[in-house]
Amino acid sequence: MGFMSWDQKFVIGIKEVDEQHKKLVNMINQLYDAMKAGKGREVIDDILKELARYTDYHFKTEEKYMEKYKYPDVEAHKKQHRDFVNKVNDFIDKKAKGQVTLTIEVMNFLKDWLAGHILGTDKKMGEFLQKFMG
Ligand code: FEO
Repeated sequence: MGFMSWDQKFVIGIKEVDEQHKKLVNMINQLYDAMKAGKGREVIDDILKELARYTDYHFKTEEKYMEKYKYPDVEAHKKQHRDFVNKVNDFIDKKAKGQVTLTIEVMNFLKDWLAGHILGTDKKMGEFLQKFMG
């Protein structure tokens, strides 16, 4: 079993979004495995960058649907995305400068943030979008 397990409870009912969430879980596991295996800085940095890139792509997908179907809570949802992107980018910058390293605390933050966001904010969005896309 990986660091973060996919669970049916994460399904929000919008197929494209669910597939993207699965991929994010896989990427977090890949990052954890690389850290645990003591992989070098370049390998870790590449996975981190890819995780940041895919997260951005994923957030844009959700935001596109929220805007298209006039989801009332779109701004609050977007703010959560923005705050997370800022934190991850800040970590990547500091890591590039050698000020921080990837630790289990960082991994737990990524896992807990994603799980909490999917189970709360994304689920609520999913219930709304299902009326249009279900
Ligand atoms: Fe799946 Fe709102 O991020």
